[in-house]
Amino acid sequence: MKSPVYILGIESSCDETSAAVLCGEEEISNVIANQNLIHRYFGGVVPELASRAHQQKIIPVVDEALKQANITKNQINAIAVTSGPGLMGALLVGVSFAKAMSLGLKIPLIDVNHMQGHVLAHFIRNKSNISDEVPAFPFLCLTVSGGHTQIVLVKDYLDMQIIGETLDDAAGEAFDKAAKILGLPYPGGPLIDKHAADGKHDRFPFPKPSIAGFDYSFSGLKTSFLNFIRNSENADQEFISKNLNDICASIQHTIIEILLNKIRLAVKETGIKDVAIAGGVSANSGLRKRITDLKKELGCRTFIPPFQYCTDNAAMIAITGYFKHMRGEYSTLDLVPKARMPF
Ligand code: KG4
Ligand code: ZN
Repeated sequence: MKSPVYILGIESSCDETSAAVLCGEEEISNVIANQNLIHRYFGGVVPELASRAHQQKIIPVVDEALKQANITKNQINAIAVTSGPGLMGALLVGVSFAKAMSLGLKIPLIDVNHMQGHVLAHFIRNKSNISDEVPAFPFLCLTVSGGHTQIVLVKDYLDMQIIGETLDDAAGEAFDKAAKILGLPYPGGPLIDKHAADGKHDRFPFPKPSIAGFDYSFSGLKTSFLNFIRNSENADQEFISKNLNDICASIQHTIIEILLNKIRLAVKETGIKDVAIAGGVSANSGLRKRITDLKKELGCRTFIPPFQYCTDNAAMIAITGYFKHMRGEYSTLDLVPKARMPF
């Protein structure tokens, strides 16, 4: 009988400190310490505060991940860590910690691209996964997070090509900025989602950009939303409180339609019918629902990650590490994190 392969994953690229243990492709722990309360006061992530919080949390989070996995550090076969893209100071905490652990335990170090991790979250096995169905290669993945919006052509686990991306703001940023304009606390995306559930999405129409190819743009929408709210408040000071649900439903609907229009185009032009979503915004209930409509509309198979693998987590870093480990793709101890990082 083959002995199990244990991969420890570490994620610290933005404002979540996370550690996870996978046994093969199966998650056996995934611990996430989130920093929302630290950054809320400032209305967004403060890089220096994020780095310090990662430093405080990294040891307890890794400890807890090993405890919940019921293994000792000596049983780990390899350690996978996010090396970019992300905030430099935040990445340095995870990468330095992983290097020290790899050196101390004499086990391989694996560098992981965070965005690749979001895509590969679809392959994590988990006891609570209802279906074992995973996308077949090649598939399209709409990766939508706080910093990125990409249409990825996924040819294999470690062979991905970005065929479209945002030219300015990311979809998550559009949600967060709209929420900030409405006076909602950071991170606003989940709150817009919550209020949108009780609102009418066709109440306030917002403009959609016309950008060539599979690329996106959200900065124009942000400006028109800001102007619309300012003008409406000038006419009625209580405009936001009186219409919050409808405003949230309308802006959410517009962001989702912008996202879906390019996916439709990508399906038509590539002929690829397996479509996945990934990243923090894939937790959005409107997007989760609308993407499944592509089944009927275009005959696609659609794949939505379980909630715990949408926003930043180390299980997605560990699964990417697992695929690299199986191919013997390791990093060296002179690994340097990168704030920007292509696949
Ligand atoms: O992937 P992620 O956790 O971090 C990055 O890699 O950026 O994504 C965070 C983003 C934030 O912009 C957050 O507002 C957004 O995902 N988000 C949501 C929802 N949950 C998280 N946006 C809309 N609806 C949600 N339910
Ligand atoms: Zn992310």
